[in-house]
Amino acid sequence: MKHILITGGSKGLGLEITKQLLASGYHVHVFNRTISPGLAELQNTYKSLSIHLCDLSDTNILTLFLKSELPSSIKLYGFVNNAATAYDDIITNLNSQRLEEMYKINVFAPMLITKFVIRNMLLHKISGSLIHISSISVHTGYKGLSMYASTKGALEAFSKNTAREWGEKGIRSNSIVAGFMETEMSSSLSDDQRNRIYNRTSLKKPTSKQSVAATVEFLLNDKSASITGQNIFVDNGTI
Ligand SMILES: NC(=O)c1ccc[n+]([C@@H]2O[C@H](COP(=O)([O-])OP(=O)(O)OC[C@H]3O[C@@H](n4cnc5c(N)ncnc54)[C@H](OP(=O)(O)O)[C@@H]3O)[C@@H](O)[C@H]2O)c1
Repeated sequence: MKHILITGGSKGLGLEITKQLLASGYHVHVFNRTISPGLAELQNTYKSLSIHLCDLSDTNILTLFLKSELPSSIKLYGFVNNAATAYDDIITNLNSQRLEEMYKINVFAPMLITKFVIRNMLLHKISGSLIHISSISVHTGYKGLSMYASTKGALEAFSKNTAREWGEKGIRSNSIVAGFMETEMSSSLSDDQRNRIYNRTSLKKPTSKQSVAATVEFLLNDKSASITGQNIFVDNGTI
């Protein structure tokens, strides 16, 4: 059974990805702070789900935690960097502490986990797949999202360069550029804001979590063996 590490598997997109990967026969290791009702339901159904409760903003202890939770006897075939937080505000209101906290969760923790996962793949000579969930806000621009979008832009650059660095070992890295989805993260938007965002897409509706999750599964699979260093847009065709 192939083991996959995913962050933020308790809610929203991460829960949908976890559900699809479990149904396809993967062993899924989720890293998040809470066990939501949806995750508890999956826990009752699948023995191949391992839940590792942690706060990713605690970057000082993250590497030790990973080593204790995932001993090197576990062979990792993939990493889905999904957990994130959105600190939305206009730049003139920047609060350093909140910005730093967001960077820890959205950028520093994923880099530390990538280091851990690649080392595991090298140890076991696995041609694995790394997937970062990015956001359409990097490419289009939305008022109030400059700080959040900058964390996702950092990930896209990190992913492309990781692909270049480890391609000769068969390790692939890609980003999925997701459009706005109906999750807790986007729940603070008013109906008016929501409609304006959806009207900027070709399909005039929210991006489907199922479609993003299916793209994650494709990128983990050998069917995507020649795809690396790319940004794959799953955003309903934002214009
Ligand atoms: N929603 C959108 O419109 C949208 C659009 C484009 C891209 N994205 C991206 O898609 C991904 C998933 O977003 P979503 O909308 O599904 O978000 P969400 O519903 O808010 O879920 C976020 C997930 O991240 C986990 N998480 C947050 N902070 C954490 C921390 N400090 N430590 C450990 N886990 C933490 C949460 O788990 P716990 O609370 O249990 O810790 C939860 O499982 C993110 O990378 C987001 O940036 C979202």
